[in-house]
Order: sequence, then C-alpha cells, then structure tokens
Amino acid sequence: MAQSKLRVGVLGAGRWANMAHIPGWQRDPRVEVVALCDVEKDLARDVAGKFNIPESTDDWQALISRPDIDVIDIVTPSNTHHELAVAAVGAGKHVLSEKPVAHDFRETLRLAGEAKSKGLKTKLGFTFRYTPGVQFAKSLIDEGFVGRPFIFNGYEQNSQWLDPQTPLRRSQMREDQSLLQVVSLEGYGAPIIDIGRWWVGAEYSSVVGTMRNFIPERKVWGSDQLTPMNIDDGDVFVAEFGNGVIGSIQTSFVTIGNFPGVEARIFGDKGAIICRMVEEFGVAETIKVATPDSVEFKEMEIPRRFYPEGGHSNESWRSLFYANLIKDFIDEIVEGGEKNQGNFADGAAVQAVINAVELSVRERRWVDLPLER
Ligand SMILES: NC(=O)c1ccc[n+]([C@@H]2O[C@H](COP(=O)([O-])OP(=O)(O)OC[C@H]3O[C@@H](n4cnc5c(N)ncnc54)[C@H](O)[C@@H]3O)[C@@H](O)[C@H]2O)c1
Repeated sequence: MAQSKLRVGVLGAGRWANMAHIPGWQRDPRVEVVALCDVEKDLARDVAGKFNIPESTDDWQALISRPDIDVIDIVTPSNTHHELAVAAVGAGKHVLSEKPVAHDFRETLRLAGEAKSKGLKTKLGFTFRYTPGVQFAKSLIDEGFVGRPFIFNGYEQNSQWLDPQTPLRRSQMREDQSLLQVVSLEGYGAPIIDIGRWWVGAEYSSVVGTMRNFIPERKVWGSDQLTPMNIDDGDVFVAEFGNGVIGSIQTSFVTIGNFPGVEARIFGDKGAIICRMVEEFGVAETIKVATPDSVEFKEMEIPRRFYPEGGHSNESWRSLFYANLIKDFIDEIVEGGEKNQGNFADGAAVQAVINAVELSVRERRWVDLPLER
C-alpha cells in the first residue's frame, strides 16, 4: 500500500502564511494541507478557498486536537507562538513554528525536550538557513574550503520600517515603554545568529552589544495616530565563539536596502565566503568566494541541486527559501531517524544569545554563555 500523505494543519492565514508557508507545503506531493485556522473566521475561509484547502476554522484548539493531523504549522503573531506550540506538542504533533517560540530561551528548551522525548520533530522558521546559497556555502565549509575559521560577520537589515507611517503590529510593542524594548534583535537577529553558530561550528560563548531607538514614534495597525514606541530598531553586537572564532552581528529595519537584507560572511585561513541574500534587480541571492592566492571575490553559480523543485534564482525569495525549509522538514518526518536541523533546541540556543545580548545592553558589560537554566 502506498504510504498516505502527511496531513498538515496551518494556524494563521495572514501575509507570511500566504506568501511562504502554504505555497511551501503545497509544492510537495507528499503533503496535504487539510485545514486552515485563523481567529478571523472570514480570513480563514477566504484564504482556504484561494489555496483549495478543504476546511477552515477559527478554533485552534479543536484543530490541534484532531487525531487525523500529523503536523501543526504556527504562522501567527509572535506573542501566540508559545501557547500554540505547547498545545501542539502536548497533542503529539510535529511542529513548525515561526520564531521565537518564547522570549525566554528556557521555555523553548523545555518544549524542545518534551518534543524529543515524544519522538516528535520540531522546526523553527529560520528561513535563511535553507536558501540555496547558504546551503551551498555550508557544503563548501564542510568540504574544508574555508579551512580554520577566524571571523564571522552577519547582517539582517533593510528599510522596511524606516517610514514611521508604515504600521507595526501592536503585538511587537510591549507594555513597558520606559525601557528600550528588544524588537529588531529578536525578529531580525534570530536567523543570522542561527547561521553564525551553524557555519562556525561552535556555540556563542560571550557577547557584548548595543541597541538604539532611531524612530521614536510610529503608526500601529488599526490606528492613524503616531504612537511613542521605545523599541530597538537597530543593534550591533560582538561575539566570541567556543572554538576561538570571533564575530559581529548587526540588525535593523531602518537601514536602507532591500528585503530580506541578510548577509553572512566567513573568513578562514584557506578561504572566505560572502553570501548575500538581498533581492536586487530580480535576483534573490549571490555567493562570492576568495582564496589566499585569488583575493578578488568571484561570484559562484549555485548548483541546481540546492534549489527546490521548479525553483530558480529569479523566483521571489519568500517562496523560494521557504520551499527548501518545508521540504527539509517533510524529509525529516518521512525518513524518521535523528535528523532534525533548525529545531526547537537550535531555537533555544539562538534565543539564549538574544537574551544574553539584551542583558549585556541593560548592564553595559560582556555576558558569558551558556546562561543559567
Ligand atoms: N521567517 C521569516 O522570514 C518571517 C517573515 C515574515 C513573518 N514572519 C513571522 O510570521 C508570523 C506571522 O506574520 P504575518 O506577517 O503573517 O502576520 P499577520 O498579522 O499578517 O498574520 C497573522 C495571522 O494570525 C492570526 N492569529 C492570531 N492568533 C491566532 C491563533 N491563536 N490561531 C490562529 N490564528 C491566529 C491573525 O488573525 C492573523 O491573521 C510572525 O511571527 C512573523 O514574525 C517570519
């Protein structure tokens, strides 16, 4: 008998579900998206109709407890991820969640442990770990192209919210406005912090950082008024890794440049790689390399095998990169075994770095990792 399809329930029918998640699942013939849930019932119905998803609902608890669903995909606002992920793991589902699972790394770590003990696979929405260029770069690093790594530099920056009239979600604004709140470091920092520890091959061991609020008033969704917003819209930190590598990370959504604005650079004794995920002139990403005897960076063609079925460098980065992420998760679930990259434990390691940088900014000092659990 042919194996039946993996059955997926998606929570959240907003922009990112439309652009990346649902198209990613539906690109793979091994999967059926059987139900879509949004607390806005009409939106769930309309988006389910658009993607030919047979059922829609506004009741996430009912959807998570359905015995005929194997995977729950959480693509809702960040302040809901933890509650939904706890419920999904509790119900015995494999879970893909947008980041962060929780603001405190300890909560993510606990959930990672529970999922593993139940034999469930988890995955964070670390979109940029899965780009064809980043995957190619990792294969070069594994083959020894970089040699002994010295320095990693990472950026996620674009000008998405440079204009204060572009509204932010209320969920991104915490209650206490007296302290500068972590926003860019968490939203934009997570994917590039993830690539750093993965490429370098060691955990972050010490960090020191700074954050700024450059645009003090903004619109929020649902209001025409400008509202005071004491949030980090730009930050930089310096890091040491456990294997002696040093590095820096810079994130901002008010720095001029196009989406997604991610760049990862690694420099070693045998080679250097610059992977630039900035959609420019219709091309989603570029990768350039140099060696000690050929120091001018040359662009490399990304081999076909790193692209998803039907994918190409002129496709929108949103669907192209996410298709690879979702295909990888499906492979991990269908094939079984231990393989489970970018999982909740990786999410907890990344979140711990964010928590440590926040502490370093608040106390104006270096903070060592691991943090106390
Ligand atoms: N990984 C990436 O590169 C990337 C890119 C963009 C957005 N995101 C993340 O994706 C998530 C969604 O972003 P978006 O732009 O689609 O937001 P959005 O506001 O457009 O959509 C979120 C939807 O979730 C619904 N919702 C809220 N609570 C719910 C619940 N309990 N059950 C079901 N539905 C619920 C809302 O009604 C809304 O329609 C956010 O966490 C965001 O940070 C990640």
